[in-house]
Amino acid sequence: MPTEFVWVNQASVIAREAGAQLRKFFTDGVVTEYKGDVDLVTVADRTAETLIRERLAEVFPEHGIYGEEGTRERLDGEFRWYVDPLDGTTNFAHGFPHFCVSLGLEQRACGLAHDEDGRLVAAVIYDPMRDELFVAERGRGARMNGKQMHVSLVPELGEALVATGFPSRKRHDSPNIHFYQEFTLRSHGVRRAGSAALDLAYVASGRLDAFWEFNLNPWDTAAGILLVEESGGQVTNFSGGQYRLNSNEILASNGLFHAELLGFFSDLFAGRNLHPIPTPQEFAQHRKERMAKQFSGTVAAS
Ligand code: IPD
Ligand code: CA
Ligand code: CA
Repeated sequence: MPTEFVWVNQASVIAREAGAQLRKFFTDGVVTEYKGDVDLVTVADRTAETLIRERLAEVFPEHGIYGEEGTRERLDGEFRWYVDPLDGTTNFAHGFPHFCVSLGLEQRACGLAHDEDGRLVAAVIYDPMRDELFVAERGRGARMNGKQMHVSLVPELGEALVATGFPSRKRHDSPNIHFYQEFTLRSHGVRRAGSAALDLAYVASGRLDAFWEFNLNPWDTAAGILLVEESGGQVTNFSGGQYRLNSNEILASNGLFHAELLGFFSDLFAGRNLHPIPTPQEFAQHRKERMAKQFSGTVAAS
């Protein structure tokens, strides 16, 4: 990890410690409680948030903390950590080993209104089951287990692996199932793996080519957004506007087919007919033509 990182080295130690704690709870088993109809919480979520809160306060005593399990401390300061102590609680509670700790640091200029965003400056996401640590700092790049990350080079939705998620509150109100259907039929597949923070980390590392979701919270997205941006990708709302931490919509991609995705969202929201889904023969022909065009461009450029 480069020594020029300012915050993530210390924050990574904290994320690893919280992750080790989650791993132990996961192995031992925990009782699940309900926060809402299908919104789960466990002692692991709360214990990990307490640990993160205490450690952040020791290492960065001036920094504020805004955590999913209720921590609200020093929110009038210049720096604020958005903490999801356990992203992927439903997975965790069912013994499905896909979850993480997510810590995103925002720098807020003096005088910023409470509903205005500052700048995301540092990100740490730790997957304790795979021992994978994703980190980034604004202008200093992004790394996974010490290795520089870059988004994928996939040029269009038809050749992309994408991801989404569904809210655990008011899920009957979510329109996302319609988007899920369309994207499933027009891509290599849609993964719904159950951790928005890891979905974003996977877009950053090129394992996924795009991700979208409705109604996430700042603790789900703060770290992942910076990972994607520092890995060369793009993050907006569904209209292409700037993503805000309290946005109801997030669209992240490798940037290469972001415009195509925005066109889709625009058509679906407007109820316009989408292009018919290509037959396998049409898809094969289209891909052949695209590769030929790409190859002739490469030859012409060399
Ligand atoms: C959830 C996960 C999930 C997403 C939900 C989130 P939690 O967070 O990120 O992937 O679809 O909308 O609430 O509750 O496991 O921290
Ligand atoms: Ca979450
Ligand atoms: Ca959580």
